[in-house]
Amino acid sequence: MLSKAIAEALNKQVQMEAESSQAYLAMASWADIQPGLDGVAGFFFQQADEERMHMLKLMKFINERGGFAVVPALEQPILTYQSLIRVFQEFLKHEVAVSESINELVHLSLAEKDYATHNFLQWYVTEQMEEENTARILNDKLELIGEDKSGLYLFDRDILAYRGKK
Ligand code: FEO
Repeated sequence: MLSKAIAEALNKQVQMEAESSQAYLAMASWADIQPGLDGVAGFFFQQADEERMHMLKLMKFINERGGFAVVPALEQPILTYQSLIRVFQEFLKHEVAVSESINELVHLSLAEKDYATHNFLQWYVTEQMEEENTARILNDKLELIGEDKSGLYLFDRDILAYRGKK
């Protein structure tokens, strides 16, 4: 049975995953209407689906352990971006914030001696390491590419390979 504190903290994480999904869906839609960014659009459409899966996994766990998974209200995410690098900077910033939130949850699960939740959260710890790493690599690549058009062409063409690694 989940304690009240753990149930509330897990539901906050449900909200964060839902917000992540919305944010990445908006990035996908923005990229979708830019010329030549089909790969980036595909990447963020898939990332949005993945975040929804993270949310559903949490919801199932909460309900299975005697809590009540609350479907959260969502604010509209950022809809437009001035440049591609801004999108990826936001992506990294967001993933770092999610990792911090997962770390807080892990800390709370130990403080509450909830070892089942602690065990469940390990999957998210690993997932966040991978997602943060992907976001960092993609930001580094864009820094390197700068305004070089052929570099951007290759970045867009190859970006889906980074999803295959997960
Ligand atoms: Fe599920 Fe990338 O946070």
